[in-house]
Amino acid sequence: MALLEILEYPDPRLRTVARPVAEVNDEIRQLVSDMLETMYEANGVGLAATQVDFHQRIVVMDLSEECNQPQVLINPRYEPIGEEKSDLQEGCLSVPGFYELLDRYARIRLIALDRDGKEYTKECEGLAAVCVQHELDHLEGKLFIDNLSRLKLDRIKKKLGKKKR
Ligand code: NI
Repeated sequence: MALLEILEYPDPRLRTVARPVAEVNDEIRQLVSDMLETMYEANGVGLAATQVDFHQRIVVMDLSEECNQPQVLINPRYEPIGEEKSDLQEGCLSVPGFYELLDRYARIRLIALDRDGKEYTKECEGLAAVCVQHELDHLEGKLFIDNLSRLKLDRIKKKLGKKKR
């Protein structure tokens, strides 16, 4: 197991579009393990491979209090269930300290492969639904702050830049 470096905004590598995983092999399973370890260490609930500079369609999540229910999403996609929108704010390990309310579906149906390469379907609502939509955006090179005003983005850049010095 190994901790991976989490890229932070405005790192241009976060803009990479991830490619599908061709085969769920031991190499992919190792990456999944490392991503889970990295996510737990950072106290996150979700992490996309893009955020650790691996550009394949892999996401890990764990929304449990005890951090003992890891979920693995390989080549994930989703479809909305109904039109209802979520009212939950979201944050991101790549943009630490900022939270926003985005236009997200409140309920979705997730279709993905697990760490054995087996396809599963899962209905998600609440935080799980928002998290899936957020993480899948990462795989497209998108960030949850992309639609904020220039002013707000400048403030975020300034704050994140300061933290590093
Ligand atoms: Ni994120």
